[in-house]
Amino acid sequence: MRSHYCGHVNRTAIGREVTVAGWVHRRRDHGGVIFIDLRDREGLLQIVFDPDRAEIFAEAERLRSEFVLQVEGRVRERPAGTINTNLPSGEVEVLATKLTVLAKSKTPPFHHDEPVSEELRLRYRYLDLRREPMLKNLRLRHAVTRALRRFMDDNGFVDVETPILTKTTPEGARDYLVPSRTQPGNFFALPQSPQLMKQLLMMAGLDRYYQIVKCFRDEDLRADRQPEFTQLDIETSFMNEEDLMKLMEELLRDTFKSVLGVEFPTPFPRLTYADSMRRFGNDKPDLRNPLELVEVADLFRGVEFKVFAGPASDPASRIAALKLPKGGELSRKEIDDYTALVARHGAKGLAYIKVNERAKGRDGLQSPILKFLPDAAVNGVLDRVGAVDGDLVFFGADKANVVNECLSALRIALGRDRKLLEGDWRPLWIVDFPMFGALPTGGWTPLHHPFTSPRDPSPDALRAAPGTAIARAYDVVLNGYEIGGGSMRIHTPEMQSAVFDLIGINKEEAELKFGFLLTALEYGAPPHGGIAFGLDRLVMLMAGTENIREVIAFPKTATASDLLTGAPSPADATQLKELGIRFKSATPS
Ligand code: AMO
Ligand code: AMP
Repeated sequence: MRSHYCGHVNRTAIGREVTVAGWVHRRRDHGGVIFIDLRDREGLLQIVFDPDRAEIFAEAERLRSEFVLQVEGRVRERPAGTINTNLPSGEVEVLATKLTVLAKSKTPPFHHDEPVSEELRLRYRYLDLRREPMLKNLRLRHAVTRALRRFMDDNGFVDVETPILTKTTPEGARDYLVPSRTQPGNFFALPQSPQLMKQLLMMAGLDRYYQIVKCFRDEDLRADRQPEFTQLDIETSFMNEEDLMKLMEELLRDTFKSVLGVEFPTPFPRLTYADSMRRFGNDKPDLRNPLELVEVADLFRGVEFKVFAGPASDPASRIAALKLPKGGELSRKEIDDYTALVARHGAKGLAYIKVNERAKGRDGLQSPILKFLPDAAVNGVLDRVGAVDGDLVFFGADKANVVNECLSALRIALGRDRKLLEGDWRPLWIVDFPMFGALPTGGWTPLHHPFTSPRDPSPDALRAAPGTAIARAYDVVLNGYEIGGGSMRIHTPEMQSAVFDLIGINKEEAELKFGFLLTALEYGAPPHGGIAFGLDRLVMLMAGTENIREVIAFPKTATASDLLTGAPSPADATQLKELGIRFKSATPS
């Protein structure tokens, strides 16, 4: 139906007859001549309808935005002064000799360059995807998956598909359940990841597995989370974490180089989980942000100011200072806004000291807490953070998790608002995660997942001190986002049972949920381990957006609904009956 893509017609085609097809992007009537910008996947092409050809000119007058056309005509140079250097086809135009309207369009609910709500964009996603930035994102995503696949294929990884209708694969979220018709009352779970299947593939001797695969997690959604998302999922046998991390760095280096032309450092820097929490308050620091938390609890022990004295002598608490160079410029209103920000993360306040002129002692400082603090504490803090005139020092004092959450949020906001970010790409590894986190209700929860191996191979040692056990787990962090995570796995039934037991899964439950894994571990499981990358997040970062939905063709909203199709929607009575499902209330909601 066509000889050229619109966006590919350029100088080299001058004088040639071409046939193009696409959508009416824009129509302009100029002194008796009609111009159409015709658009396809590859770009825009100017079509000219001349009144000399009365019949097709009359037809061209009826064209509207988003009509689908086929146009034949001759390519000619645009007259001087009308060249558009922004378009690859901007030096030429096509004088139409034949016009076929292939489809008409209603007036679209939004036009291409117009700002429009995300809700409307999602409802008419096919129209939204016609817009150039969205098309660019989808094609970037394709370029990324192609580069990833090529690397995996070249390195001996075998692509194996794993089931979507399966059993629970705990990754810390709720499962999506699918009722079974043939076994009423029983359910499949959609995989939160292919974690157990890929481990079984190692036990099957595959040695190197990968898959680009959908994962399903019913969890609270955020800008970087979707209920169904895509992983590049990887598992290997007979590789330790050093080997694997090195190979994964190569994968990322190769992908960023080939897709974006970006060079990553060799090797990636590494931070322990403990150091990351101490310096940045979270385990996915954006290293482009130069601000760091500094521990100051010891300086406030025994001071009169209760807000600080309490946490200073409580081992579960922390007092951290965050110095903002030139923060003296912050207005009262800005400080109030940051106080409100940390309050949303649970802080009871946001103390600060503005350093106007250190040489003047107390008179050179400005702070709501100065009057409560002795000189030694004030000077100790200012020395430790290296505060100079013009700086501002914020404080967080509370339980360690509250301080970490609040000050890491503050650090991110200051980095953004004050334009402090340095450099473009700062990948790093976070290593030495604890095996478990303590639950508020008592007991332990795995920090990665319950198949992660502790560093000490003795189940007795793990049982004796679960709270201090270190996991053989690692995350890749890029510019403040966790883009991948994995671990070396448990490969003996004894250790696996010990971990289940510690996290409160008793023998019967373990047998019921994970019996197949425990059995498989008894038939010669190789040492194995792997990682999974969040493909959506990776592409999101490469596309330069902070919203994961911008790189997913048909994403879901924050309430996990699909505005285009209207899913989820009620099932009809026959379907429910077949599945043996009855709702308590008359109208299921
Ligand atoms: P994990 O749970 O860390 O590990 O997931 C791996 C990566 O997947 C991405 N990710 C998400 N992306 C979008 N929306 C979500 N809801 C979402 N949840 C996770 C993140 C994350 O780093 N089976 C293990 C991997 C392993 O141990 O090999 C796993 O799934 O970028
Ligand atoms: P208050 O005594 O509550 O008026 O607090 C005095 C100063 O300390 C104010 O600037 C508060 O914002 C700040 N503040 C109160 N609680 C905390 C806290 N937990 N961490 C840091 N600063 C706090």
